[in-house]
Amino acid sequence: MAKNKVIIVDDDEFMRDSLLEALVRPDLQVTGFGDAAAALDAAADGSASLLLTDMRMPGMDGMRLLEEAKRLDPKLPVIMMTAFATVETAVRAMKRGAFDYIMKPFKAEEIEVAVNRALEHRRLLAENEYLKDELDKKFRAADFIGKSQAMRAVFGQIRQAAPSSATVFIRGESGTGKELVARSIHAQSPRRAKPLVKVNCAALSAGVLESELFGHEKGAFTGADRRRIGRFEMADGGTIFLDEVSETDLNLQGKLLRVLQEKEFERVGSSETISADVRILASSNRDLEKSVAAGEFRQDLFYRLNVISVELPPLRERKSDIPDLARHFLERFRREEGAAARDISAEALELLAGHDWPGNVRELANVMERLVVLGRDEIIGAAQVENALPKGAGRLIAAPAAGAGELFRPRPLDEVERDFVLAALAYFGGARAKTAEALDISERSLRDRLKRWQEAGTASPAGEA
Ligand SMILES: Nc1ncnc2c1ncn2[C@@H]1O[C@H](COP(=O)(O)OP(=O)(O)OP(=O)(O)O)[C@@H](O)[C@H]1O
Ligand SMILES: [Mg+2]
Repeated sequence: MAKNKVIIVDDDEFMRDSLLEALVRPDLQVTGFGDAAAALDAAADGSASLLLTDMRMPGMDGMRLLEEAKRLDPKLPVIMMTAFATVETAVRAMKRGAFDYIMKPFKAEEIEVAVNRALEHRRLLAENEYLKDELDKKFRAADFIGKSQAMRAVFGQIRQAAPSSATVFIRGESGTGKELVARSIHAQSPRRAKPLVKVNCAALSAGVLESELFGHEKGAFTGADRRRIGRFEMADGGTIFLDEVSETDLNLQGKLLRVLQEKEFERVGSSETISADVRILASSNRDLEKSVAAGEFRQDLFYRLNVISVELPPLRERKSDIPDLARHFLERFRREEGAAARDISAEALELLAGHDWPGNVRELANVMERLVVLGRDEIIGAAQVENALPKGAGRLIAAPAAGAGELFRPRPLDEVERDFVLAALAYFGGARAKTAEALDISERSLRDRLKRWQEAGTASPAGEA
């Protein structure tokens, strides 16, 4: 057992000895001092758990010792002892942070009770501190930034939702941090030692998605040359994150509903029923109520997913978070790139706060990366930020490294479309949903185009951070 260090200060030797005797216990290591200065030296390393001091002493008195000791270690409980107790001195001592106050002469039991209470108090303080630290660390580990009212609310919801196995629906525009929410819920849940399996429902065609989720038997379809375990089975005991669940088709939605209700499913091409213990998190950057109203998303599945919902506000509605986020990304990219930039000026931050951030935090991360990589100075200034931010529609047309003349030079239509789409994507800070909406095409169609251009080697992977 780690012993609690107790320091006793009294100029009266007889008093000291009787206290030492009263406090002979296996859990205590008690040291007596005849003067306050020596006791203070002993307490200086912060290892003491409790200080008991006489009030009236030659040299430094009890009240001064109390103040000095509190300065060294604000959490050190101090018990004052005096033979000349008055209400005023007691009040004065308590005001200056004494934990307790006892009058001489006292019985051995009295001192014991006071000592136990003080040590218990100290222990709770330490425990409290530890728990708070642990909680903070969880968030820090996820590098989840945000002090705005809105983000504090989100963190609160995460903390509440994490311990259960309830389904959580995470909503928010593209780039607001939905994946980070999913990660922190899993990391704070009792399932944290088991896998968090992510499935991007928008990235796969309907057929592929089904076998990806539930697995398939050998020969289930052309190309299924062996049995494959699905993501639900991989996530057994853990969590599955159905990213962009709004992009699933109605057939698959029916199967998801069954998993939610019965925890059961079949591999593609098999009639054997499999069950898995999986917690489901789902996200959407689309208004699912609208999809339900349009008949594109099953209402019953929506209700099942929406048991607990966490809503991430767009960055433009929590601008107070921008400086912290900007510095966070600055630091991260500076370290990754070994770049010169160490800070960002107040004017530059103001410009960032003035921007609308259609691509939300992801767009801010991209802008900061550009600033850090391209910057030569230690401080990122307003002029650089001005250059890095898109400005209105004129910029959209001019963006593909060409003026209007270039845009209208006769050339293959596909090339024109590519330049225009990439410019639009850049304009929206890489936010695909926004870009697709503005171009009035589906996200899937946008993705297919990007993929095609990427494979043809005419576009760099855009839109994902
Ligand atoms: N509060 C935050 N603190 C730190 N980084 C953040 C925060 N929010 C988002 N990010 C970062 O911004 C990027 C986008 O976040 P994330 O992928 O979680 O967004 P999303 O909502 O899932 O977007 P999408 O809908 O496009 O998938 C990531 O690099 C993420 O780490
Ligand atoms: Mg995401």
